Amino acid sequence: MTNKYVYFIANWKMFGDLRTVNSLDKVIKFSKNIQKNKIKLIYCPPSTLIQSLSNKLKKTRIEVGAQNCHHNFDFGAYTGQINSKMLKGVGAKYVILGHSENRQSGETDQLINIKIKSALKAGLKIIFCIGETLKEKKNKKTKQVLAKQLKNGLKSIKDKSNIIIAYEPVWSIGSGLIPKSKELNSLITFIKIKFGRKIPKILYGGSVNIMNIEKLKKVNGIDGFLIGGASQNTKKFIDIIKKTIN
Ligand code: PGA
Repeated sequence: MTNKYVYFIANWKMFGDLRTVNSLDKVIKFSKNIQKNKIKLIYCPPSTLIQSLSNKLKKTRIEVGAQNCHHNFDFGAYTGQINSKMLKGVGAKYVILGHSENRQSGETDQLINIKIKSALKAGLKIIFCIGETLKEKKNKKTKQVLAKQLKNGLKSIKDKSNIIIAYEPVWSIGSGLIPKSKELNSLITFIKIKFGRKIPKILYGGSVNIMNIEKLKKVNGIDGFLIGGASQNTKKFIDIIKKTIN
């Protein structure tokens, strides 16, 4: 871990309803007792819950983000879509882009690049996901894949100060598997070098849980975690945070 504050980003995916929003009372209470500069807590619920979550978290230090957005900055005839301005309008401060679950359903690097630009223009901060598949890993293509995703995804974006990178190996998401610490550290260093002069915040994501957090927190250079499954359970999520910062 780096010695700055640690990011914990909850990616609820397509889970959650108004009852789940109320379950955050425990997290709010917990976060009030933590020193201000120790953690940065961000919840990314489904779009349907962004507004109620933002209202609930108004007087707290916990922030809200979205899980994706349409690439068009302007309003338009795109049935079923939501753009970055709309997300910002209901209280989102961040948006996850390039998540492998969306790449797998057809999102290209080029489309992600347009989405990032549009979301930055709307004033959102970006959690930009990159990661290799198992096949790419086995073929020793990991660095090549990460370099390509970074290069194409960030093409012609000059000011990258509002972009956080989340390294999420596709084979690790939801599988219970995590990379070896040495390997993870070397990839984090690689991403930092590739990103350019301004060193970004880099998060790790993929099967982060109460059992492996002790190991993950010891990996140098990681600024925090993007957590899926385990973030949907308030107790588990709080336990992961406690284990990381204590
Ligand atoms: P997971 O998901 O923690 O359930 O593996 C992480 C993610 O997809 O962001």
